Amino acid sequence: MIGVFDSGLGGLATLKDLMRELPGEDFCYYGDNAHAPYGTKPVEQIRALSFACTQFLLDKGCQVVVVACNTASSAAIDAMRAHFSVPFVAMEPAVRPAARLRKQGRILVLATQATLRQQLFQARIVECGIQQAVLPVPCPQWVELIEQGFLHTSQMEQAVQQALVPYRKERIDVIVLGCTHFAHIRPLIEREARSLWPQAQVIDGNEGTAHQLSRVLHRAHLRTGRTQGGAVQLYTSGDPAVYLPRMEALLHS
Ligand code: DGL
Repeated sequence: MIGVFDSGLGGLATLKDLMRELPGEDFCYYGDNAHAPYGTKPVEQIRALSFACTQFLLDKGCQVVVVACNTASSAAIDAMRAHFSVPFVAMEPAVRPAARLRKQGRILVLATQATLRQQLFQARIVECGIQQAVLPVPCPQWVELIEQGFLHTSQMEQAVQQALVPYRKERIDVIVLGCTHFAHIRPLIEREARSLWPQAQVIDGNEGTAHQLSRVLHRAHLRTGRTQGGAVQLYTSGDPAVYLPRMEALLHS
């Protein structure tokens, strides 16, 4: 069984892509909704929470763990790999693909404060030689609204506008969704982006993560060989009566 966790509901967008790529595999998803958001927390706390999520999934019998959270991945992946013996698949903002897609304009990276602050993100930008082109945009309010189930509301729309409009005079080529929560409001972000920068492309790391999981399973001889009929279990650290229906709805939307 493949374990997948996030601070809350964001990783369900990743899970959808994983299930599409590997429809015969069994998945177990853990949303740490009781402790979301992670993105505004200190790194030590994000690490401790990520360890607890991983332990939860291992106790359920998972043999591989996908960290479907850019924040947890950037704060804790090295420590988790050193501590646990299972293979991990981590996520990070899709900076490399963005650098390839960029023309003369700039790249907006929408993510949490914690991700944007991390060494991993800074190093990636330097590696791609795009320090001058990247505009990091923390969007903590978006995570809160998505967790509260306000995806299709005027509040959400306003929050997206408020974050993007200050950059309207820039020429933006690529918008990176560097937080898994944001994939749930991708159509809204795309609509707003089209009106501000008609040429901009919106990208996320979900598909790349699905391919990476496939490679990791193959390498660790963990593929079941089934091509359909995989099962999925959903768990939350929050109130199941509140979060499980939201999780089901997002997974099947
Ligand atoms: N979904 C998470 C990410 O990809 C973090 C959201 C949060 O808890 O702040 O970074």
